[in-house]
Amino acid sequence: MISQEMKILGLIGYPLEHSISFMLHNFAFKQLGIPAIYLNIPIPLESICKALEGLKYVPLYGLNVTIPYKELVISYVDEISPLSQRVKAVNTIAIREGRWYGDNTDVPGFIKTLEDLKFPKDIPYLVLGAGGAGRAIGFSLAEYGVQKIYITNRTKEKGENLIKDLKYYYPYLKLEFIPWEEKEGFSEDYFILINTTSLGLDGRTSPFKIDKFSKDKIYFVYDIIYNPYKTPLIIQAENLKIPWKNGLDMLIYQGIFAWKNWFGIIPPFELLKKEGDKYLCAF
Ligand code: ATR
Repeated sequence: MISQEMKILGLIGYPLEHSISFMLHNFAFKQLGIPAIYLNIPIPLESICKALEGLKYVPLYGLNVTIPYKELVISYVDEISPLSQRVKAVNTIAIREGRWYGDNTDVPGFIKTLEDLKFPKDIPYLVLGAGGAGRAIGFSLAEYGVQKIYITNRTKEKGENLIKDLKYYYPYLKLEFIPWEEKEGFSEDYFILINTTSLGLDGRTSPFKIDKFSKDKIYFVYDIIYNPYKTPLIIQAENLKIPWKNGLDMLIYQGIFAWKNWFGIIPPFELLKKEGDKYLCAF
């Protein structure tokens, strides 16, 4: 039942057809008795600035931000967490008396998934993408303590900026930029591949020609897309018998950590994981 006391939260991004956040949050609100509603707020690029200015006058309680606005929203928040400032990306906004507080829960969310699976720290990581999500993954890997990160991005400047920022905060981390067109010539003996680009969301495109590599060169493929549950990249990895992971756990962790900003509590991971798996027909 929707009442006047309902807290209104939502997700800003574009497009949002792939997103299941509204379903997970609304499910958790119901299970835990929180009087709140979570909406998809798809805003196309041409109207995002006006929309954000307008949203400042709407009595919202909290927001999530996704592709492609995680960097842009920084100029619209009144206060920003030190982590978001470092990463230069905001994915969670808590709103109190009209003031917007921006935080980044992608970083602790992704780190938690690395810890859960005990990802190795001594194998090089090749990260595809340096947008808002790519920046969060780069900082997560650095914070987790990996030794070497290669970053490739279609727009060279963004990839190099991420390397520059990581070097500033983690001077001992080994970092290297690889031009997008040269990534399939990657020559490390054994590495972990992480896709943070939006390539694969359409269920047709793969960001990486994985068949150029023999299966004993790639230790693990991690695609942070979760819908489709298996992207073309993951299907290729699976065919090559390379272990893989999609972005569902990261989505859930960043979502439950966002609750800490909004409500001061963290809902149980397993509750949402079960619901997410069910929704994405993972069985
Ligand atoms: P998010 O905040 O979710 O990371 P984003 O900042 O728009 O969204 O980043 C999208 C990522 O996908 C970027 O790395 C982007 O590359 P550019 O920085 O060159 O834009 C990458 N990407 C999107 N479409 C792409 C394409 N067709 N080919 C290669 N990379 C692409």
